[in-house]
Amino acid sequence: MAEGPGGESVIRRAHEADSLCIAVLGTQVFLDTYATEGIRPVLAREVLEALSPRAVVERIGEAATTFLVAERNGHLVGFAQFTAQAGHERVPYASPTELERLYVLERFTGRGLGKLLLRHAEDAARASGADGIWLTCWSRNIRALAFYASQGYEELGPTLFEVYGEQHENRLFAKPLGSMRGRSPG
Ligand SMILES: CC(C)(COP(=O)(O)OP(=O)(O)OC[C@H]1O[C@@H](n2cnc3c(N)ncnc32)[C@H](O)[C@@H]1OP(=O)(O)O)[C@@H](O)C(=O)NCCC(=O)NCCS
Repeated sequence: MAEGPGGESVIRRAHEADSLCIAVLGTQVFLDTYATEGIRPVLAREVLEALSPRAVVERIGEAATTFLVAERNGHLVGFAQFTAQAGHERVPYASPTELERLYVLERFTGRGLGKLLLRHAEDAARASGADGIWLTCWSRNIRALAFYASQGYEELGPTLFEVYGEQHENRLFAKPLGSMRGRSPG
């Protein structure tokens, strides 16, 4: 468990009823992370479309997609979103899982929550048959680049991410998922 002043975090699978809070948390973290120069239409669209409560409900309902939420004192403080059988041309796994989002509210960062959510996501992916997990991370998101490197992810170089016609340089990261027995604790 990740602990901090005033409580300890619990990780659980999200239900439809979590969609409102996931959407709002996702919006706050997304804007904190990507609206580094302010708001422009592409960012506004991502928030109001991909991170709307309705869009989140739809994603929660997808069989291949899993949302794990981190809850602390009855409040959502972070979530992980990942999809099974989602490949990438430069990722070598037979049964790959894509980590689509890993978001921790800014005031709860640096306390081990990201690590905890990531470990649960990896365990869930492994338990459902994945042999590797991958993600892309914005090249200017220095903290997240350092975070994934510290969690055993190998950087596989740059890759272009396209959102509403805009292209951004991301970094591709991947990690093989061995058996539970081979996993190091913590
Ligand atoms: C990236 C993110 C998920 C990390 O979560 P977190 O809860 O802050 O990270 P943790 O406290 O679990 O840190 C785990 C490890 O990551 C590394 N790390 C975390 N923050 C770091 C920083 N600012 N600089 C360098 N390394 C860092 C450390 O090695 C740390 O291990 P340690 O605590 O044993 O030293 C979180 O900061 C976040 O949600 N950021 C905004 C959204 C985002 O960028 N998501 C990723 C998109 S690809």
